[in-house]
Amino acid sequence: VTSPEGLCSLRWNAQSEAVEVIDQTLLPHSLRWCQLRSLESYCHAISAMQVRGAPLIGITAAFGLAQALARDPSTENLQAASAALLATRPTAVNLRWALAAVVTAVQDLEPASRAGAALAQALQLRARDISNCARMGEHGLDLLRALHRAGPLNIMTHCNAGWLATVEWGTALAPIYKAHAAGIPVHVWVSETRPRNQGMNLTAWELQRAAVPYTIVTDSGCGQLLRSGAIDCVLVGSDRTAANGDVCNKTGTYLKALAARANDIPFYVLLPEATIDWHCASGDDIPIEERDEREVLAVTGVDTTGLRREVMLAGSGARAHNPAFDITPAALVSALVTEHGSFEASPAGLQRLRSQISSSSPI
Ligand code: MRU
Repeated sequence: VTSPEGLCSLRWNAQSEAVEVIDQTLLPHSLRWCQLRSLESYCHAISAMQVRGAPLIGITAAFGLAQALARDPSTENLQAASAALLATRPTAVNLRWALAAVVTAVQDLEPASRAGAALAQALQLRARDISNCARMGEHGLDLLRALHRAGPLNIMTHCNAGWLATVEWGTALAPIYKAHAAGIPVHVWVSETRPRNQGMNLTAWELQRAAVPYTIVTDSGCGQLLRSGAIDCVLVGSDRTAANGDVCNKTGTYLKALAARANDIPFYVLLPEATIDWHCASGDDIPIEERDEREVLAVTGVDTTGLRREVMLAGSGARAHNPAFDITPAALVSALVTEHGSFEASPAGLQRLRSQISSSSPI
């Protein structure tokens, strides 16, 4: 399986023994790959959001841990490197999940075998993410087919849940790419996603490259759009989903879910199994990342000469609150769409998913 253009967000270069990632802080104005080798470069790439999106954060960290073990395979370093990577961002549970998968794969091995086994595990997580997203896309496509009448299907999305947030395909964008490829006319309403503008900077860039019709809308314009009858469904991703079906995703998701419910519009969340935190009984247990207020007070872009600049939006001395995520209660979610199929966002629905997982083969 390959995503629409065969492009991916992260690749392992065996010759140079480095991971290559797209520096997402430079999009949409320049497409630049950077190489990660040292533990510091991995930690920086995740915390500075050169790579972002729950699945991609986890996979990047898995490679980071493998490379840290190539330098020093001791148990002390396994623990220290894993802790350093885990501390980079607090909300997306895929980070903890991917690091645990690598630690489990190597901890009982002789130190000399650890780096090779860790790299093999990271490569497997990467491959698994691609096939999971493709499967999620097929399940989401079934829902889109069922909604499609005459004319384009109008889909609203938030933040970036495309291949830039995973390795290929994406979560919420996967069914959209599949529908487009299947000849179902789609039009995507991309909410800009203040303050970092992942919708405008990343989702719009992805859709444009894939020739999927889209329109950017301000975050505050989404409520009226949902009320107007112009939207057929909302598709979003998740950074962590609790055992009761509450969904944590990019700040602004909750308001869309409220407006969707008030207007009887289906609100689907697409997520791989790795995004479910079975230890969180509800969304109240999920840690929400607080980011620097400067992300709200200033904005970075390019000027008319193509020069990258940060400009202040707020007046001098202004203060801001910048939570990066919010919680959408399960009751507002029409279904959770995973690589295993669609499930009700409820304790019973999650239990059904859990039994299905345990009866199929684990990673
Ligand atoms: O802060 P970000 O850009 O890492 O947040 C990303 C999101 O909120 C996505 O919607 C989420 O990771 C799910 S999509 C794979």
